[in-house]
Amino acid sequence: MTDAELLSAADAVAARAYAPYSGFDVGCAVLCRDGRVVEGVNVENAAYPLGVCAERTTFSRAIAEGYRPGDFVVAAITASPCGGCRQWLAEMRVERVVFRNGGRVVEMTPDELLPEQFVL
Ligand code: THU
Repeated sequence: MTDAELLSAADAVAARAYAPYSGFDVGCAVLCRDGRVVEGVNVENAAYPLGVCAERTTFSRAIAEGYRPGDFVVAAITASPCGGCRQWLAEMRVERVVFRNGGRVVEMTPDELLPEQFVL
């Protein structure tokens, strides 16, 4: 699967976002080392801070299905990942991140997205 195909999968799944408050649909598709693609969307809540970003629903789903940090090759996102999600991308040790930003497609590593990240 190419990066462009993975980003297309993220675009498609964004249609299933639950974002009635912001109206900003986000999709994420992650390519796992075994070839499987795991997808997620943002899920908002009337109590705004309880909403969850697409990246976090995606990786939460993958972890629940048995994947572990290091099992992920590329994450494709329809928006630039927020600061908190950059910490998630680092935690999951995904190799590369491809995302849309202002009409451009950007590719970066988690280290580039979040230098000097917090680790325990
Ligand atoms: N959002 C994501 O899903 N991922 C990000 O990295 C940036 C922001 C969502 C959260 C919220 O539902 C909406 O975009 C507007 O902030």
